[in-house]
Amino acid sequence: MALASVRGQGLAAGLGRLTSELAFDRRHGLSAFLPREVVAEADEPGFRVVDAIQYQGVDPRLALEVLEALPQEVRGEATFVDYGCGKARGLAVAILVGFRRLIGVEVSRDLAALAERNLRLLRERNPGVDVRIQRIDAVRFMPPDGPLVAFLFNPFVGLTLERVVQRLEAHAAAFPVWVVYINPRGRSAFINRGFRIRSEWDGAVLFESKPR
Ligand SMILES: C[S@@+](CC[C@H](N)C(=O)[O-])C[C@H]1O[C@@H](n2cnc3c(N)ncnc32)[C@H](O)[C@@H]1O
Repeated sequence: MALASVRGQGLAAGLGRLTSELAFDRRHGLSAFLPREVVAEADEPGFRVVDAIQYQGVDPRLALEVLEALPQEVRGEATFVDYGCGKARGLAVAILVGFRRLIGVEVSRDLAALAERNLRLLRERNPGVDVRIQRIDAVRFMPPDGPLVAFLFNPFVGLTLERVVQRLEAHAAAFPVWVVYINPRGRSAFINRGFRIRSEWDGAVLFESKPR
């Protein structure tokens, strides 16, 4: 998969990305590079593995650029939720840009355990930050009350995405919601539920909920 990504982007760009991902992981004590298939989980019978996208860590440079577009006060006040947090690279970037309350939602027991391990150094270095991993199907996850930044690096499609967007729409009826969507294959699901595009990058969209 890593090699496929090098081929897909052209050699120089692909190698540049691989090098920067490895450097990011080394700097922050992560082991997040290798992809991993997602499999059915016996204790999550409703989990639609057919909708799930396999684990691949987000490009930290792109994630950083998009998250830095959020106003500073949003980063300081909102809860950051990574839907399908995998090995926690997206959470790591979010800690670095100033989020203080973060939740990683991950259905895979193995990946959730790796995320916990990967967060050890960042927790040590950022004692005021509350970052938790919730090992659960994203469809069953209830976001906490208050402003929310939902982060999705193309974690799932289909009915799973529809249900998560539905829940975010319900949350947006009471609180402001921003959605950072990287590799936004299902962007129409958000547009159809009233989210507005605030900014766009090559490979990412930032949505915001309409004012209440
Ligand atoms: C492309 S990876 C995203 C990795 C991570 N967000 C990052 O930024 O590095 C997609 C992740 O979504 C998870 N996933 C897929 N379906 C899920 C579901 N229904 N509930 C929770 N996690 C899910 C996969 O296990 C995988 O770890």
